[in-house]
Amino acid sequence: MNNVPQHVSIIMDGNGRWAKARGKERIYGHFEGVESVRACTEAAVEDGVKYLSLYAFSEENWNRPKEEVSTLMELMMESIRKELSTMMDNGVRFVVLGNRARLSDKLNAAIDGMMEQTASNDRMTLIVFLSYSGKWDIMQAMKKAAATLSPEEFQNMEAADFERYLVTAGIPDPDLLIRTSGEERISNYLLWQSAYTEFVFSPVLWPDFRKDEFRAALREYSSRDRRYGKVK
Ligand code: FPP
Repeated sequence: MNNVPQHVSIIMDGNGRWAKARGKERIYGHFEGVESVRACTEAAVEDGVKYLSLYAFSEENWNRPKEEVSTLMELMMESIRKELSTMMDNGVRFVVLGNRARLSDKLNAAIDGMMEQTASNDRMTLIVFLSYSGKWDIMQAMKKAAATLSPEEFQNMEAADFERYLVTAGIPDPDLLIRTSGEERISNYLLWQSAYTEFVFSPVLWPDFRKDEFRAALREYSSRDRRYGKVK
């Protein structure tokens, strides 16, 4: 494939509807969604994508029923543990970004272990956004900048300086953002970082979004003409 995006990001949506359509509990959709995570990660590695990021849990998702939240957290911890050897075999570096203070000590320890062990893998970086929201990120960056810089430095700050305080510092902005399940909105995701991102909306529910759908989105991306506000 030509013109492979360097960074692909996905808003994985539609697990609940997928389960409901089968007369099952929402969590069943999340379980099946993990299979799509695996499939898309594999396809991304195979196709030469350097960064794949996934919106797994938003700051707003904490307001879901307690039971769904705790099962989702357990599911993520279990998946992380299970996939370690596959990530090592495939050169995948694992990174979690978000408001880590809201995660349990147990989950944070599992994440830290996984991040340390995969830190020097360099074929692809898999980023899981957990307890993340775009406004939260911009706010925490602003506070960090204010606490670090002198008033004069703060006043003179440019966009490229400010970006260093976002949790995504050092990670290129997404070239392609995919949202599944037919919804067409950003939902407080990478607000700053998606300034020039190409969007692809798929009607397919996340548990059904596998390699073929992922590659169709990559093909759609390769046909786009990115101008970054300039005239070509
Ligand atoms: C959106 O569907 C999906 C989520 C909020 C959870 C996504 C998480 C996973 C698939 C597990 C990820 C695991 C790893 C290891 C990254 P929804 O529940 O909002 O669906 P609905 O819109 O149909 O209700």
